[in-house]
Amino acid sequence: MYRYSQIMIAIHWLTAVLVVVAWFTAVGGRHARTDPSYVHFTVGLAVLLLVIPRLLARWLGAAPQIEDPQKQWLDLAARAGHTLLYVLLIALPLSGWYAASRLGVPVSFLGIGLPSLTESVQGAPGEIADLHETGGTLILWLVGLHALIALWHQFILKDRTLERMNPMAPPDLTQDRR
Ligand code: HEM
Ligand code: HEM
Repeated sequence: MYRYSQIMIAIHWLTAVLVVVAWFTAVGGRHARTDPSYVHFTVGLAVLLLVIPRLLARWLGAAPQIEDPQKQWLDLAARAGHTLLYVLLIALPLSGWYAASRLGVPVSFLGIGLPSLTESVQGAPGEIADLHETGGTLILWLVGLHALIALWHQFILKDRTLERMNPMAPPDLTQDRR
């Protein structure tokens, strides 16, 4: 298998859109207490929900092996970068949920009320909320880098990396790889 499975590809691009929407709808600087963005909560929680089938599919073999043994350092770097992205895709929604609870803002997902993760406080919501804000910006920088690396693979190294995430590419490109 050269390409990712259709389910992995669909979740990859859907998650990408949701993360960008989450970033644009974020309300920081404690304004979330008075003017919370429920779109931000909903798309952020959707990211968390999608990570579960994604990791399950990956574990069941829906991600292709990297097939260039001569470029082992690239393989390692890609694995480290992807792991960090996965960590953020889980930690960001959870820390955001926690931050909302600290601020005393109720969290719901598509009309379903969710429990508070901690006691609310009057003043600053604390370090986890700060980490959430920093992590929310960090993921955008990382994704920019991730996209640039994917384009570098595709157009400079010409190893067809982008086609691995293309839903229209043939499922097996191994035969005609250059
Ligand atoms: C918020 C946006 C994005 C996130 C969170 C994200 C996350 C990820 C993750 C976690 C993987 C690893 C998949 C796995 O092996 O399980 C991956 C793979 C990939 N992503 Fe993204 N991505 C984003 C945007 C993009 C963009 C904009 C591009 C292209 C310009 C892109 C191109 C790719 C490609 C080609 C792969 C496969 C890499 C390989 O085969 O080793 N991604 N992405
Ligand atoms: C991928 C998912 C998410 C991303 C990328 C993200 C990103 C961000 C960013 C960048 C900020 C800071 C905005 C600013 O300073 O102007 C922020 C704030 C916030 N987010 Fe998220 N977020 C995500 C998920 C969530 C979720 C799921 C929730 C709640 C259920 C949430 C709740 C909050 C709250 C309450 C704040 C304000 C924190 C404060 O004022 O200290 N976020 N988010």
